[in-house]
Amino acid sequence: MDGIGRLIDRLPKVELHVHLEGTLEPELAFRLADRNGLALPFASVEKMRAAFDFEDLQSFLDVYYAACSVLVTRADFRDLTRDYLARANADRVRHVEPFFDPQTHTTRGIPIDDVIGGILDGLADGEREFGITSGLILSFLRHLPVEAADATLTAAEPWLDRIVAVGLDSTEVGYPPEPFAPVFARARSLGLRAVAHAGEEGEAALVARTVDCLRASRIDHGVRAADDPAVMRLLAESGVTLTACPISNVRLRVVPTMERSTIGTLMRAGVAVTVNSDDPAYFGGYIGDNYRAIAAALDLGVDDVRQLAVNAINGSFATAERKRELMAELEAAVAGMA
Ligand code: ADE
Ligand code: ZN
Repeated sequence: MDGIGRLIDRLPKVELHVHLEGTLEPELAFRLADRNGLALPFASVEKMRAAFDFEDLQSFLDVYYAACSVLVTRADFRDLTRDYLARANADRVRHVEPFFDPQTHTTRGIPIDDVIGGILDGLADGEREFGITSGLILSFLRHLPVEAADATLTAAEPWLDRIVAVGLDSTEVGYPPEPFAPVFARARSLGLRAVAHAGEEGEAALVARTVDCLRASRIDHGVRAADDPAVMRLLAESGVTLTACPISNVRLRVVPTMERSTIGTLMRAGVAVTVNSDDPAYFGGYIGDNYRAIAAALDLGVDDVRQLAVNAINGSFATAERKRELMAELEAAVAGMA
C-alpha cells in the first residue's frame, strides 16, 4: 500500500456529514423487517443492494425513505446507530456528528421519544465500546412545510440538551432555505448551532443565501460553490466549513467522475473542506473509502490529507478540550508517517 493509503488508514477521523438512516445496510434492513413483521420490496439482500443505482438525488431519496419503514422501535434505532459506530470505529473515527430525520419517522406514527432515545442509547454504546464521542444533529426535511419543521423542533424540546445543532436536508431544487429562517432562528435562540445542505444540486448562489439566511456555520456538500469565486471567497473569509461527500457526489451524478470533484478547487480557494460519507450503506463507501477515493483521484499529498482532517476537527461542535485531544491524536498519526 502507498504512503497516503497508510496515512488514511491510521488517521484519527472526525465525521461531520453522515445520515444515520443512510447507514442502514441491507442486512440490517432485512433483520429489522423480520423482527417487526414487515416486508421490504426486495426479494433478498443482494437484490436490494443491486437496486442502489441512482440517477440523481431524488431517485436515491425515494429508496432511502422507503427503506426507513423497517425502523420502528427504540431498539431498532439503537441497533442502527451502534452498527454505524462499529463500522466507523473500524475506520478510526474518533468523533462524529450524525444527522437524523425525525420527520421521516414521526410521519409514520413513530414517537419522537423512541427515535431520539434509541439513537442516544446507540451513541452511548459507541462511546463506551469504542470511545467515539458525538454530537447529534436534528435535521428538518425541506420538502415538508415549514410549520412541520417548527412542530418537530417543539416536539424535540425535552431532548435539546442532547442535540448540538439543527440541519436541513432532502430535495434541494424547488425548496429554498429562506422559509426556514424563522425556525432556524428559534433553534439558535434555544442554544443550537445551524448547518444545512446546499449546493448539492442547487447553484452556487444558494450556498451563499443559505449561509446568510440560516446563519449556517457549516454547509453540507457545497459542491457547486466552486462555480463562483465570490461564493468561495465568502466561505473562506467567514470560516464556514464544507462537509463534502465525494463518493455520494459521483453516485448521485452531482459530478461526472471522481476526478471532476470540485474539492480540489475549493481547497485551493482556502475553503475549509472536510471528507465524509453521507449515506454509506447506499453509496458503497464509508469515510475511509471517501478519503482514499478523493486522495487517489486528485493525487493528494500528506499535507492535503492532514488539512482535510484538521478542518473536520476545527469545524466540529466538540468542546475545546475534545478538539485539543483530537488534534493531538491527529498530529501523532501524521508524525508517525514521517
Ligand atoms: N438526505 C440523506 N442524504 C441526503 C443528501 N445527500 N442530500 C439531501 N438530503 C439527504
Ligand atoms: Zn447529506
